[in-house]
Amino acid sequence: MTARTDPRSNPVAIPFIDVAGQRRRLGARIDAAIARVTAHCQFILGPEVRALEEELARFCGARHVVTCASGTDALLLVLMAKGIGPGDAVICPAFTFCATAEVVALLGATPVFADVDEDTFNIDAASLALAVAKAKALGLTPKAVIPVDLFGLPADHDALAASAEADDLFILDDAAQAFGASYKGRPIGTFGHATATSFFPAKPLGCYGDGGAVFTDDGDLAELVKSLRVHGHGGHKYNNVRIGITGRLDTIQAAVLLEKLEIFRDEIAARNRAAERYNNALGNVATVPRVPDGYTSVWAQYTIRLEPGRRDPLAAALKQEGIPTAIYYPTPVHRLQAYAHFPVVDGGLPVSEKLAQEVISLPMHGYLDEPTQDRIIDAVHRALNG
Ligand SMILES: Cc1ncc(COP(=O)(O)O)c(C=O)c1O
Repeated sequence: MTARTDPRSNPVAIPFIDVAGQRRRLGARIDAAIARVTAHCQFILGPEVRALEEELARFCGARHVVTCASGTDALLLVLMAKGIGPGDAVICPAFTFCATAEVVALLGATPVFADVDEDTFNIDAASLALAVAKAKALGLTPKAVIPVDLFGLPADHDALAASAEADDLFILDDAAQAFGASYKGRPIGTFGHATATSFFPAKPLGCYGDGGAVFTDDGDLAELVKSLRVHGHGGHKYNNVRIGITGRLDTIQAAVLLEKLEIFRDEIAARNRAAERYNNALGNVATVPRVPDGYTSVWAQYTIRLEPGRRDPLAAALKQEGIPTAIYYPTPVHRLQAYAHFPVVDGGLPVSEKLAQEVISLPMHGYLDEPTQDRIIDAVHRALNG
């Protein structure tokens, strides 16, 4: 085989998220944990599920944790427990994954879209107040707000709590991307009245399939969610006292997560080191993400901003060099076909629209070694300066 003089002519592909890197570290332990489940055969609500709920509660300090089948189910189960339905409005940011609003619409309630802050990408408390006014003007009853801790960075939970309290709103924190982050020294999972997270494999704490969890300090709410995740059972599984769903976390997924949780803090630290290196290296060619004082992020995504029209050439140039990128999100939720008929705040959602044109995410995970990251940084510089 002839040696290549220019490695860029056949670059080694870089993963966007290096699941294999984590398996090199933890694979044998995870395989053994899965084997323990296949040996005891308690595939549904086996002992690992309860153990995981206890460990998750210990990790973030929430009083109650109820695991479930996905992040979407975590959001849905809480809204079901609160009796959200037709005639109710639930305020959602427009710059998020559709699931935030999907669960509202599924229950026959109305998502009302608010705008986000340009620096943090998270719901703007002033826009939340406008959304409440919009809901009332439409004859809806504003019942709840679902702030999202987007890309792993917490929303401004103090500002949101003040605004939501004024309007008597239930706060359901959508922390699908942010379990492990903190705000003013307090871990995500302890804000608002309840928190939902996702263990989708690409999330900072991901399992080997779908999974999610609800966090709350409200014992009654936790009991309701437990009932709803198993067809609304009462004391006995064939005594169904309310309409529920099949929403449990598989025991095998709990076993995987128990192993991953043990190294999660270490991985969060590695993600933060990688984010800091990106920020130092890219701040002169792009708008890099800013973490406000007192916040920590788990960097579910590392997302930069470029003037409209510049990101597609960047993505194409990086692709040529085996470097993947992703756009989260190319369309704000209120512009998606399934959501376009739902109300938005008066004045529209200019920040969400702008961000959707400007954002582009680079590879980010806890196994991004410095030489690989330098290759990405170098390629971004050449693409943007060339
Ligand atoms: C902000 C947000 N909310 C909710 C979800 C839904 O989580 P899941 O895919 O586990 O249902 C996701 C998942 O991507 C998400 O990013």
